[in-house]
Amino acid sequence: MSIGKEPMIKVQQITKSFGDVVAVNNLSFEVKPGEVFGLLGPNGAGKTTTVKLILGLLELDQGEIEVFGLHPEKDEVEIKKKLGYVSEDPLIYKSMTPKMLFDFITSIRDLDEAKTTEKLRYYLESLEAVEYYEKLIATLSRGNKQKMQVIASLIHDPDLLILDEPLTGLDAKSAKVVKEIIELHSERGGSVIFSTHILEVAEDICDRIAIIDRGKLVALGTVEELSKMADKAGADLETIFLKLTQQDESVNHIIQNLRKMFHNDKKK
Ligand SMILES: Nc1ncnc2c1ncn2[C@@H]1O[C@H](COP(=O)(O)OP(=O)(O)O)[C@@H](O)[C@H]1O
Ligand SMILES: [Mg+2]
Repeated sequence: MSIGKEPMIKVQQITKSFGDVVAVNNLSFEVKPGEVFGLLGPNGAGKTTTVKLILGLLELDQGEIEVFGLHPEKDEVEIKKKLGYVSEDPLIYKSMTPKMLFDFITSIRDLDEAKTTEKLRYYLESLEAVEYYEKLIATLSRGNKQKMQVIASLIHDPDLLILDEPLTGLDAKSAKVVKEIIELHSERGGSVIFSTHILEVAEDICDRIAIIDRGKLVALGTVEELSKMADKAGADLETIFLKLTQQDESVNHIIQNLRKMFHNDKKK
């Protein structure tokens, strides 16, 4: 790794619309070396769009993004050398086996074959996925596809991991292993963008969290800083999240109505 002190990612006032929908609205944040940075928000908040803009897979309407001081739209190839990505969709190479996929990555990334094979073995064993190594990807369960995607993002030892809901479909044990890998990666100075809609996961893994809702940054900080912002010192992230996204009253209202319905049903 060749990691300095500069932020690995700088996102400055970015905006992206699809027709009438403003998916990302004037969003800014930075990710430092060694930091696990969470993008936390409900479905449709704009997490995946943000991730795809950082990867240069979508074009910005406004604002600027730098990754390793480079521009994703111009320097895609250079950036990709030092970046690992797990997309929110499962692997789609239906007529390939994981082995074929990893061999392909080893070849296009020009990696040392012996070293890569050894690393792969470690990852496959720790995620209990050895037996699926030479099965067709199409026949794998969602969780096993996800394991292979996670491994594929790691084999070139990237400085930066961009993980879009990476624990989807994983059982508790594999999720724990992936979380451990993320921690080890950050301990040696690597950065992570971790997108999730699950509060406990963000609280568990992330050093700092950007809460986004309907494309906008609602709050940004450590869990402790967020709890101060919500004026809920010591509260859990769920309470803080609902307060900051101004959903606390509406949730209480919904819960009261549900209670009424259930109690009325019981009486009948
Ligand atoms: N390709 C697209 N075309 C039209 N609308 C899109 C497209 N991608 C995302 N959107 C819309 O942008 C908003 C943000 O979506 P997304 O970034 O996928 O959210 P998240 O990942 O937080 O669930 C949603 O309203 C979604 O419907
Ligand atoms: Mg998404």
